[in-house]
Amino acid sequence: MEKIIIDTDIGIDDAFALRLGMLKQDLVGITTVAGNVTADMATRNAKLFCQHYGLNVPICKGATRPLMEEPCEPITDVHGDDGLGGFYHEYFDSTTERNAVDFIISMAKAHPQELTLVAIGPLTNVALALNLCPELAKLLKRLVIMGGAFGHHGHSGNMSNFAEFNINCDPEAAAQVFASSLPTVIVPLDVTYEVLISGEEIAAVGDEFLTNISKHYLQFSFEEEGFYGMAVHDALTIVYLCHPELFTAKEGAVRVSLNGITRGQTMQNPSTMPVPDDCFKGYPAKQVLVDVEVNSVKDFIFRALKGA
Ligand code: BDR
Ligand code: CA
Repeated sequence: MEKIIIDTDIGIDDAFALRLGMLKQDLVGITTVAGNVTADMATRNAKLFCQHYGLNVPICKGATRPLMEEPCEPITDVHGDDGLGGFYHEYFDSTTERNAVDFIISMAKAHPQELTLVAIGPLTNVALALNLCPELAKLLKRLVIMGGAFGHHGHSGNMSNFAEFNINCDPEAAAQVFASSLPTVIVPLDVTYEVLISGEEIAAVGDEFLTNISKHYLQFSFEEEGFYGMAVHDALTIVYLCHPELFTAKEGAVRVSLNGITRGQTMQNPSTMPVPDDCFKGYPAKQVLVDVEVNSVKDFIFRALKGA
């Protein structure tokens, strides 16, 4: 088990990641960020989640907007008005005692080389933490993020033809994180879109909260794609922590496009020979997951959610 903080913009697949994280890893805190929903709503959702599952960990609100742009529009068609399918109506105050960035830094200092940061929303909090405390790159054990798309298996973007949502929300933050020496594993659409879960499979798990919040997403996907199922993107970060052998990783520097029609595109150095104008020069290697054992991952998710 690894000590983890989950940094999240709690939408539906984030809730699956949180549930797996609390069951299978040592989840020591939840930090929130604007993305699928506002940071206020993400914080409310974290409180709702913790109350529902009786989870008692610090919840710390983070960035309310990306580093340079206006906040992205909440993804209500996929995640519902509140990010959790609009099923639960309880009110929770969105203030928190501690700020997300301070919490991440102080926990990393308290547990040097032991803490893994799992970032499943835009990378704004992570970039802010690295800016405030550059030694974070050495203090954290590693960073595991859900984000990006590299074109493997035909998955190149879900917001634009080139850009994945989390990276697209705050490309500047992603660029800073990928330029840092922080050991990083990237779990992109290339693998997450390969693992599709049907509504029947979710219902069979018997988790009332996850079943209820998924209804909106499942309905959306049925209307859009004719498939009553979904990708639980963020959950694959936790599966990776538990079973890295179920994935194939490619090592190499990663950059993010900040301009034009490719803004938000993630790229890993494709060159197999030295080139005179090497735009990845000086960028540290990251691990990008490019292949996944689909059935084994699904088996693990279902068994874990059933408490096995
Ligand atoms: C990512 O975008 C969000 O909508 C999901 O929660 C996930 O983190 C997938 O592109
Ligand atoms: Ca997310």
